[in-house]
Amino acid sequence: MHNAAAVKTKPNSMRLLQVLSGTALSPPPVWLMRQAGRYLPEYRAVREKAGGFLDLCYTPELAAEVTLQPVRRFGFDAAILFSDILIVPDALGQRVEFHEGEGPSLEPIASARELSRLDPAKTGVKFSKVFETVARVRESLPRDRALIGFCGAPWTVATYMVAGEGSSDQAAARLFAYGDRAGFAQLIDIVTEASIAYLDGQVRAGANALQIFDSWAASLPEDEFETWVVAPTRRIVTELKARHPSIAIIGFPRGAGGNAKRYIESTHVDGLGCDTAEPLSAMRALAQAGVAVQGNLDPLLLVAGGRAMERRVKEILSAMRGLPFIFNLGHGIVPQTPPDNVARLVALIRGEAS
Ligand code: CP3
Repeated sequence: MHNAAAVKTKPNSMRLLQVLSGTALSPPPVWLMRQAGRYLPEYRAVREKAGGFLDLCYTPELAAEVTLQPVRRFGFDAAILFSDILIVPDALGQRVEFHEGEGPSLEPIASARELSRLDPAKTGVKFSKVFETVARVRESLPRDRALIGFCGAPWTVATYMVAGEGSSDQAAARLFAYGDRAGFAQLIDIVTEASIAYLDGQVRAGANALQIFDSWAASLPEDEFETWVVAPTRRIVTELKARHPSIAIIGFPRGAGGNAKRYIESTHVDGLGCDTAEPLSAMRALAQAGVAVQGNLDPLLLVAGGRAMERRVKEILSAMRGLPFIFNLGHGIVPQTPPDNVARLVALIRGEAS
């Protein structure tokens, strides 16, 4: 079934999609990870009205509004669906909670026996709310702005499902994977299948591109990186492209470093999100090898603003000139970011700044 919104839009007028198909544009398209969020007063107002964070994610009218807010305010080249990577475990039936001022909290899945708590058959109930948000956003978004759908990569989502919270070393998931390979593979399979359904529904509802967030890709040795990061991501990309041949997909294996080249070659993503630590010389080499590159201003330079931010923005722009490049941060916007610095950043990129 095709949604009318997906057919009406003209992908070629979207600068983000032009770059993802390999074209270099000057100035480059710009959007920012976590561009909707607490640094914006208009977000905080809607968030208060919604009640909890998950209530906001599952109320299409409000989720669509906060998706559109940063595009309206700053004129970004793309909107990113307002949702969360932990919607997938929540929809599978794991208990997921967000408490004000703390990270997420889940009922941990400590062993393969507890996988029976997950029910792939029931994800549609919650996913359908998110798909409705996508359709609403696509309807209101200017035709030349892309709508990015997303999911967490199975490895990163599994680190939260196993530990029951965010952790700095992902020890619980690593120990699960090393101690019970078959059991952990089962968990990764369940998350991979649910993520395919989640992304497929987003594309049907009107998403023009997809990003797969692998925030914790840095914690694995190379063979485990291949098994738990590369292979499930390749399965998601292959399946989505089989169903939607023209969909553009960006992978963000944060901290992949020396594994990035192999990640691109084996997953067949169209774009690679680079984190703050990735050298510009390496980003140039990756773009020259044929992938669109996205990144990688330090989110804290966006907090600091002024000369320090300006200097780095110019360095990034000059290093990536003539190559297929999307301007973004190296990780998400932090809540203390002054919105004026974001406006200044967009003006600098577009050459409107004095
Ligand atoms: O980028 C966007 O504007 C779209 C929405 C989006 C959110 N989370 C909204 C959100 C996206 C793409 C995400 C991705 C996400 N969520 C990731 C991957 C990217 C990354 O940051 O590494 C991860 C690991 C999560 C899990 C998650 N969600 C955590 C750890 C937290 C708590 C930390 C925090 O900033 O509060 C969240 C909550 C969350 N997700 C908020 C937002 C706007 C803040 C919730 C609030 O409003 O109180």
